[in-house]
Amino acid sequence: MGIQITPSILNADFSRLGEEVGRIPSADWIHVDVMDNHFVPNLTFGPTMVEALARSTDTPLDAHLMIEDPDRHAPAYVEAGCASVTFHVEAAKAPVRLAREIRAAGGRASMALKPATPVEPYEDLLPELDMLLLMTVEPGFGGQKFLDLVLPKIRRARALFDKHGVETWLQVDGGVSLETIERCAEAGADVFVAGSAVYSADDPDAMVTALRAAAEGARA
Ligand code: DX5
Ligand code: ZN
Repeated sequence: MGIQITPSILNADFSRLGEEVGRIPSADWIHVDVMDNHFVPNLTFGPTMVEALARSTDTPLDAHLMIEDPDRHAPAYVEAGCASVTFHVEAAKAPVRLAREIRAAGGRASMALKPATPVEPYEDLLPELDMLLLMTVEPGFGGQKFLDLVLPKIRRARALFDKHGVETWLQVDGGVSLETIERCAEAGADVFVAGSAVYSADDPDAMVTALRAAAEGARA
């Protein structure tokens, strides 16, 4: 799989989400940030809204659950129409069982790590995951500054994938822009979430294309 761009709608206009998603036809995925005001100090939307969004677009949805008790709530997002569902390991009680449940429901199973959570303890879980998400900001809000301190972890995660020969995708989320995407791609990321960079651009779709080109250039 090559480079993929998954714009986050967190900074889009929530009063007309269907149209906002229609502005980025070049996106590989649409990243939907689900926040519960407990795991993170912010509140967004739940499965009903995600289901409506899934009906309004042909682009697959990439749900990022920043919620407590994902063991209980994550499978509902596959049922709501998300092709990929990411839970946070810091919130999951039984990450292996949860990843298997997401896959059994027909979704791609993905696990997220906050910036201070190390990847090494989860090495043996990699074959259970279709994607690993490394947060490059503290989760909760769009528009934060990219944390360069995560770059060594991206490199170490990529080395672990190579060691185990897994097809797992490596996603980065937070502060990804034309200024920071090349660093992430060089370190080994291949799936890039970009929120404010895309939705604050005059032409969001052109920004998606520019981000992909920058990442491809850096990986070549
Ligand atoms: C932050 C969210 C991100 C956010 C990214 O908690 O998980 O997906 O929307 O927004 P930017 O790209 O503006 O950092
Ligand atoms: Zn996110």
